[in-house]
Amino acid sequence: MNGTTVDPRLEGRALKRVAYDAETIAARVAELGDEITRAYPDGDLLVLGLLKGSFIFLSDLVRHIHRPIKVDFLVASSYGDATVSSGSVRLVYDPETELEGRHILLVEDIVDSGRTLNRLMDLLSQRKPQSLEICALLHKHLASELRREPLFKGFDAPDEFLVGYGLDHAESFRHLPYIASLQ
Ligand code: IMP
Ligand code: MG
Repeated sequence: MNGTTVDPRLEGRALKRVAYDAETIAARVAELGDEITRAYPDGDLLVLGLLKGSFIFLSDLVRHIHRPIKVDFLVASSYGDATVSSGSVRLVYDPETELEGRHILLVEDIVDSGRTLNRLMDLLSQRKPQSLEICALLHKHLASELRREPLFKGFDAPDEFLVGYGLDHAESFRHLPYIASLQ
């Protein structure tokens, strides 16, 4: 995209910059798929996408994983958004697939404060998976509280509010094929 093109998907908002274009994302997602394919021994691997933000990333990623996998999703909701730090995570949709004894790879769009991941990892650990790891497309490295680093990471992200490729602002802009910050 050049700066003179108006993207009708942007609802009249102006882009500050494109942080990752579609080609850059595609190349890195393919590499991540290869890394995941190589990392796991034989045995059940369940790829768990955290909705909604991971829906595009996950669908591209799984097509680059060249081993048997199962795919399911999680929908998490935090209680008391006003007091985020004291809130906890509740599963709005709980995967129907058995987690016990499985290798589980949790796929997340972006790690910001790390609170979501901390709570989800606690919750999922209680289900006694054989292993539990994180694959995050973007990592802002702001998460002083993060207890478990993603084993697989797409990009070290800038400290900007990003939209596109699944990431939203008030449910808009998830369908952008690139990742950008808005003015
Ligand atoms: P955390 O619990 O603070 O790490 O927040 C993680 C969640 O917040 C992500 O799964 C996103 O849904 C959302 N989020 C964090 N940063 C951004 C951003 O830059 N753009 C869009 N959503 C974000
Ligand atoms: Mg969001």
